[in-house]
Amino acid sequence: MNYQWYPGHMTKARRMMQEDMKLIDLVIELIDARIPFSSRNPDIDELGKNKQRLILLNKADLADERRTEAWADYFRKKGFYVVKLDARAKNGMKTVGSMIAEACREKIERDRKRGIKNRPVRAMIVGIPNVGKSTFINTYAGKACAKTGNKPGVTRGKQWIRLNKDVELLDTPGILWPKFDDQMIGLRLAVTGAIRDEILQTEEMALWLIGYMRKNYPGMLKQRYLIAEDGGTEENSSPENAEEVSGEWKKAEVALLAEIARVRGCRLKGDVPDYAKAAQLLIDDFRSGRLGRISLEEPEDAEKTK
Ligand code: G4P
Repeated sequence: MNYQWYPGHMTKARRMMQEDMKLIDLVIELIDARIPFSSRNPDIDELGKNKQRLILLNKADLADERRTEAWADYFRKKGFYVVKLDARAKNGMKTVGSMIAEACREKIERDRKRGIKNRPVRAMIVGIPNVGKSTFINTYAGKACAKTGNKPGVTRGKQWIRLNKDVELLDTPGILWPKFDDQMIGLRLAVTGAIRDEILQTEEMALWLIGYMRKNYPGMLKQRYLIAEDGGTEENSSPENAEEVSGEWKKAEVALLAEIARVRGCRLKGDVPDYAKAAQLLIDDFRSGRLGRISLEEPEDAEKTK
């Protein structure tokens, strides 16, 4: 497997983010709650040093709650403020607001002592593409927000969104690119839809997901597709045209994909399973949450990869 991605403008975006850092008090970093390790670009730790840090575990509605809680603990222990979030829902925004105030309490206190009153906290949103940055800004800011104009000297050329009397948000989010020095990171990013699908790789993604689910979420595939997850699908069974997809994969995973193809009517000429179609169906079901709430990483994975 080889997941590669070459975004343009990477250096320029990074340089801009470095400049923007000078203007802000707080970095609000969005990561995908299903893959908190893989969706996090560690460069942000260097870029955002000396700043207060808030991590939003976004798309938490799609993730396994128990694991999301474990991740929240993991980041809190590292000194971050953390909120679990569905960026599309208005109801989580109050918690974000209070967490911003808490994260910046010292700054607010310092301002007060110096006689500076009502200077809002300035924040910047950062995260990899597709993690939900624009969704978050829209939900948080809502219609009530007012864009403030350029402020000579300090924010020339920058647009700020005044969220309320306490917080101003830099209008353009900082885009970070995922790092894939490890092929597993690329795979998890691909499965969640963070990077573009390569048609040829959909089947590999699906087979990997099946293997992962059998191990970590037994019973969920069975529940969704009404298929046998074990027994009859083990090593000894060899579905038709399996050699086309099997490669390095175990027969059990291929057999399960064949089962999904069968129950969902994904057939090719000659009544053989259409693995590509079944794989796409499975991946779409995962991404939309129809398979259930599933996370693909645990904090131990992050420690292992160090
Ligand atoms: P970006 O600015 O960081 O690039 O991401 P953006 O807000 O555009 O969000 C990407 C997709 O993720 C959007 O789906 C958005 O609705 C979805 N999304 C964002 N936050 C959440 C969340 O907390 N939970 C869930 N379930 N989805 C979230 P989209 O516009 O429909 O795009 P797509 O689904 O067609 O890829």
